[in-house]
Amino acid sequence: MSHTDQSRQVRLEQLGAYPFARLKTLLAGRHPNPELPHIDAGAGEPRLPLPDFVAGTLAAHLDGFSRYPATTGNDALREAIAAWLMRRYGLARIDPATQVLSANGTREALFAIAHALINPEASKKPYALMPNPMYQIYLGAAITAGAKPFFMPCTSANAFEPDLDAVPAEVWADTAIVYVCSPSNPTGWIADHAYFTRLIELADRHDFHIVSDECYSEIYWQQAPVGLLQVAESLGRTDYARCLVMNSLSKRSALPGLRSGLIAGDDSLIARFAKLRSYTGPATPLPLQHVAAAAWSDESHVEQHLMLYRQSLKAFFAAFGRGEPPFGSFFIWLPVANDEAFAVAAYEQQAITLLPGSYLAADDATDHNPGAGYVRIALVDGPDKAAELGRRLKAMSGLS
Ligand SMILES: Cc1ncc(COP(=O)(O)O)c(C=O)c1O
Repeated sequence: MSHTDQSRQVRLEQLGAYPFARLKTLLAGRHPNPELPHIDAGAGEPRLPLPDFVAGTLAAHLDGFSRYPATTGNDALREAIAAWLMRRYGLARIDPATQVLSANGTREALFAIAHALINPEASKKPYALMPNPMYQIYLGAAITAGAKPFFMPCTSANAFEPDLDAVPAEVWADTAIVYVCSPSNPTGWIADHAYFTRLIELADRHDFHIVSDECYSEIYWQQAPVGLLQVAESLGRTDYARCLVMNSLSKRSALPGLRSGLIAGDDSLIARFAKLRSYTGPATPLPLQHVAAAAWSDESHVEQHLMLYRQSLKAFFAAFGRGEPPFGSFFIWLPVANDEAFAVAAYEQQAITLLPGSYLAADDATDHNPGAGYVRIALVDGPDKAAELGRRLKAMSGLS
């Protein structure tokens, strides 16, 4: 076995079990209260009505199943994505041919980007920075790419903003990429203009790339979140240098099974990523690319979904009787005394599946897990179930 094979195996072994596998183990042999209908508030899987253009668009393009799809995405899809980015963020120009790629769901793209942009041996820049707690893909990507993860703490004391001041100068100097997630899964924090501006300034000063995961951009309580490309352009950075964003139809359009998302930004990073992707081949089938183009081109279904998410948040908090909706996303990041014990009790007493917060975070340098005092509740089934969740959780002990 070569040295490279060995280190790749060691990296894989460093990966812990995925949060839902851990949850399955935690709940194995336990039973939800049989007197109540089960509510799955664990997975962030929107279960809203299918947008009405899906069936017709799919039927009109079935012949596409007999052709290989381009990994980059076909022209119609990349043009629809560019048009959406320009409309949504007021961008003057984004070139669908050089600044946009299709993703086969953003999960694979958020993972693969680390492998395209980090080369710790060659660049002597081993660090991948990420929020803590975080969408676990960033961590898996960093580890398997041979990078050193560095965790930016997101605590209630700081309104869950990933703390850029917690990064030591020697880490900034050796940073290859920074993952940012706005609106954040799981905390609901939203980056503002000043935060993205500071991140871009840091990227220039320390020569790193920013990967902004904006999958929840269309799900917000009051104000539509700003995007990284929007802030870059407002700073006169019309080439979006060092900036990449990812966004998804899974949340905005409630189409998680479509497996379609976007990658956009700096053309040199797009070209580098496209080269890797031409080998790994995460292409979305052509008929589904047509559905995706239709979904990026229609806002009425997104507005309907947003209304349902807001009604769900309102219904949850009215029934629960305390707390505030998150700025963005459909997750409630609820403080509890012991996250695993609470998740078990919610399942056994109230027939609710939810996720212990510690499964979404990593131990920091002092062996503290910043997710440990929280559970994540996904409001993905509409207002009635959200109200029912609020009522059942209110009845529980172990809330803090
Ligand atoms: C923060 C975040 N980013 C990315 C994704 C990936 O979504 P998809 O692969 O469906 O586009 C998810 C899914 O839950 C997420 O929560």
